[in-house]
Amino acid sequence: MPELQLKHVSKKYSSVEVIHDLNLEVEQGEFVVLVGASGCGKSTLLRMIAGLEDITEGEVIIDAKPANDLHPRQRGISMVFQSYALYPHMTVRENIGFGLKLEKQPKAEIARVVNEIAETLQLVPYLERRPGQLSGGQKQRVAIGRALARKPRIILFDEPLSNLDAKLRVEMRAELTQFHHAHDITTIYVTHDQVEAMTMADRIAVMNGGRIEQYDTPLNIYNRPANKFVAEFIGSPQMNVFAVRHLADGRLSAGGVRLLPPEALRTRANDCAFLGIRPDQLRLAGPESGDTTATVKTLEHMGSEAFLRLQLPGGALITAKTQGPDAPGLGTSVGVGFNWPAVHLFAKNETRIECPHI
Ligand SMILES: Nc1ncnc2c1ncn2[C@@H]1O[C@H](COP(=O)(O)OP(=O)(O)O)[C@@H](O)[C@H]1O
Ligand SMILES: [Mg+2]
Repeated sequence: MPELQLKHVSKKYSSVEVIHDLNLEVEQGEFVVLVGASGCGKSTLLRMIAGLEDITEGEVIIDAKPANDLHPRQRGISMVFQSYALYPHMTVRENIGFGLKLEKQPKAEIARVVNEIAETLQLVPYLERRPGQLSGGQKQRVAIGRALARKPRIILFDEPLSNLDAKLRVEMRAELTQFHHAHDITTIYVTHDQVEAMTMADRIAVMNGGRIEQYDTPLNIYNRPANKFVAEFIGSPQMNVFAVRHLADGRLSAGGVRLLPPEALRTRANDCAFLGIRPDQLRLAGPESGDTTATVKTLEHMGSEAFLRLQLPGGALITAKTQGPDAPGLGTSVGVGFNWPAVHLFAKNETRIECPHI
């Protein structure tokens, strides 16, 4: 039985529906990431799970029991917010123990739990400090500590790393993942950052406009995106996607270029309306080779690799990624080969067309 189930859940604010007939199952101990652009309904969904927001329709089931009418405190769920929401006038010790104090737990028990959590989160030296005297990463840990003090069955994170600088974000990402592995608490983690989603999740739910577009492992989401939206959302630089026209001679016109897919792909390609290829699956070579020619318009050296914007003969721009030292110079003409087994095809309704492995 999954630890958490959402069944046909929707949410309306007055007459506006922001979550539409959504289903989700999370297993015990799983780390699930909800990822999507700002405004797609991630926080609303999390708050409905926590019980901080009413559900307009559908069911929330926690540990096999209907939870729609349970008070947040009865759900065994803790939530960590982006702002941390620490009490500035309380010490770290008091912040972590606050939930237990509200529950009127005995003082000795509160002290024991707070000390135990401070050990695991390496907060012992800071227990008597106030939040104002802590770094961003330490505040984050206190917020997690406070969430853990109540021994939740499920912990919810709403963009907890968004306020941190890039270096700290990477460190905290690793720390949170390690922490999850050590404690095995069912986790639902909201972010708009696809790198966090890819690196932290057991499963990712890609959200768009109040719906889940795909719910799968990070590698399946990357390698077999269910539709054009997911294909373009996950992956950096973004996948190149072209609308396709089918020409009489069996070729495809994509991005203003005539392409001839290999034999094995041709039947499937007949049904496709969009063709996608990731920047690292384009092979750059001499101008006479490959599937088309292109001109290098911009070049960004990242060190070990380089990102190029290439202009196709019809004017369309595509992104390619190469090993840094191999990047052709600005303004040069190159041949661009498609690694056809890595091409993604999408039907007119934008869903994935599975292709035979070439
Ligand atoms: N209290 C509210 N009243 C009305 N609309 C809201 C309220 N909270 C959120 N919304 C709307 O619901 C949608 C989803 O918001 P939210 O869940 O905060 O998105 P996300 O967390 O993905 O950025 C947005 O269009 C937002 O404007
Ligand atoms: Mg939000």
